[in-house]
Amino acid sequence: MKPVILDVDTGIDDALAIAYALNSPELEIIGLTTCFGNGPIENTTRNTLLVLEQLGKKVPVYSGADKPLNRPAKKFPTHVHGEDGLGNTVKKAPLMEAESEGAVAYIINQVKQRPHEMTIIAVGPLTNIALAVKKEPGIVSLVKEVVIMGGAVFTGGNTTPFSEANVFADPEAAECVFSSGLSVTVVGLDVTMQTLLPNAILADWRARDREESHFFADMTSFYMQAYETFHPGIGGCALHDPLAVGVVIDPSFVKKEKWNVKVVLEGEETGRTVALAEGEPKIQVCRQVEADRFLNHFLSRLF
Ligand code: RIB
Ligand code: CA
Repeated sequence: MKPVILDVDTGIDDALAIAYALNSPELEIIGLTTCFGNGPIENTTRNTLLVLEQLGKKVPVYSGADKPLNRPAKKFPTHVHGEDGLGNTVKKAPLMEAESEGAVAYIINQVKQRPHEMTIIAVGPLTNIALAVKKEPGIVSLVKEVVIMGGAVFTGGNTTPFSEANVFADPEAAECVFSSGLSVTVVGLDVTMQTLLPNAILADWRARDREESHFFADMTSFYMQAYETFHPGIGGCALHDPLAVGVVIDPSFVKKEKWNVKVVLEGEETGRTVALAEGEPKIQVCRQVEADRFLNHFLSRLF
């Protein structure tokens, strides 16, 4: 079992990623850390707790960054994830609470306690990871691997024509993480836009006699409608965050290349992830994915 911290901005596809990760015996999810992103930090933390409650899993949750490193927060993507971040399905407060320790302190402490063991999967803005590295640069050589959902290296963006949402939300944090020397794998739109969950799956989830499959069907329906609006005829929604989890479970789902990835920090291309052949450090960029094999694996684990 790989010990993993899952850093989330829950979010509909984050919720699917949490379920996939917690139902996968290859991973030991020791804690969930939260970041602003798909909503304000209060909502992303609440949503994370609600998802755990629905799954019947007890995993500690640590609340993290409420804003980008050094720019004001942008508008939250309510058109994709709903006003509440879970497709307007939230009807109650969670029973559990987040831990008193903050996400950044938790990440630093766990990495130090388990040198060269910890994998961090980060599927929201990279603010918590950047803050941890800035506060304690020594953790860079102690983290086993950081797998991130973010970036659009050889393809267009989804928030602007140039930028993917997680990088756009905090470009300086992404630049900090990519240039830190951490062992980073980028699972960007280059591959996640190929891993589509077909709309037809909702009928199957709704036919199941399980509360959690209805919980996920309701929120995913909202997400699928957003995809149809922005990509008419696409027929499904992108499994962005679940693919980052999948790559940790089975790296053979993707083919990677090493590039020096820089983030544009100014102008209309802000948030663009640019791959350079020259310069260091090189990080792993996913270029191809076995989409069907991944989708079948994801579906076999979700419930
Ligand atoms: O661009 C996709 C990413 O943005 C995913 O992490 C999704 O949850 C949203 O935050
Ligand atoms: Ca996310």
